Amino acid sequence: MPLRADHHLAAFVARPPPRLALAELPTPVERAPWLDVGGAEVWVKRDDQTSRLYGGGKVRKLEWLLASPRYAGDGPIVSLGGVGSHHLLSLALFLREQGREAHGLMFDQVFTPHVRETLAAFVSTGARVWSVRTRIGLPWAGLRYYLWARPPRIGAWMPAGGSNGLGGLGFVEAGLELGRQIDAGKLPRPAAIYMTGGSAASSAGLVLGLALAGVSTQLKVVSAVEPVLLGAGSWGRMVGQVWRELLAAGLHAELAAEGWRGLLRRAKVGWSIDHSQVGPGYAVPTPAGERVVALATANGCLLETTYTGKCAAAMQADLAAGQAGPVLLWNTHAGTDLAALARPGWESRLPARLRRALG
Ligand SMILES: Cc1ncc(COP(=O)(O)O)c(C=O)c1O
Repeated sequence: MPLRADHHLAAFVARPPPRLALAELPTPVERAPWLDVGGAEVWVKRDDQTSRLYGGGKVRKLEWLLASPRYAGDGPIVSLGGVGSHHLLSLALFLREQGREAHGLMFDQVFTPHVRETLAAFVSTGARVWSVRTRIGLPWAGLRYYLWARPPRIGAWMPAGGSNGLGGLGFVEAGLELGRQIDAGKLPRPAAIYMTGGSAASSAGLVLGLALAGVSTQLKVVSAVEPVLLGAGSWGRMVGQVWRELLAAGLHAELAAEGWRGLLRRAKVGWSIDHSQVGPGYAVPTPAGERVVALATANGCLLETTYTGKCAAAMQADLAAGQAGPVLLWNTHAGTDLAALARPGWESRLPARLRRALG
């Protein structure tokens, strides 16, 4: 797969790491009057259109991860997530392009039609599944996997959500990309940017990219997971991981000396983490999320109920409570038609317990 030479990051670091050309960038920014509340203008960053193979935010991380020597070669890659994990599906589809296989350690989540379609598309790539009922059972799936897998069948480990410092560089680039779009007059500088958070490298990378681009704004990270899994401490550690990756790439000395907190202060980039939309738990649909997903679908913009629907619901609640505009909703969900990716008989590739649970 071809490497990219066009890094926005090259203006800030001496040695940008290798990066594959997987995504079609920049993604458009659009006014979304159908999301306006009160007098505030809403804009959407259409990362649903990052790729014709599979859109969404994950490909931004995979451009850097799959270019890394750690994932070189033609062997499998193993990672984890819910049975409707967009990260695992994205990984499986881009690996299939390289003739490689994804291995998924997966836990059950509410089997919405979208989750079923995502799982169907995942196993239809030829990917394999080790599944357990709950997140805390994942070590058991891991044990079964490592008993099954022997070199060369054993996959290189990729963290959940593709979230580590290197994956986060994809969203540092995304922040710089948005800065260019603001400078070019494609949208006004948003007073607040809404992005959902799970394993958190997307928002952690974005906050640094916005600060490097000098986009003074407030990043509202709308959590899809419970506070114990994403809070100010864990989010700050993820920002620190992305920052260390920038340092390793030779971040210019005057920036490195500031530290990431200093950079954010100087660039006037604030952030907060909002758990108001998690509802009964991760991946459990909420009425507010379902309403905004239906509204978005009617307006030609696909959202889903685990991440982006909850994020848009938080934005609407803030606007109703007086949040000033303009605001930007970052749509990290793929707009890809999943039904077209499923192969007949896909269920037969699932472990028996999961097949029974799906009914
Ligand atoms: C559609 C979508 N948006 C956002 C996220 C969260 O990104 P991150 O894990 O980097 O916080 C995910 C998955 O993790 C996702 O599937």
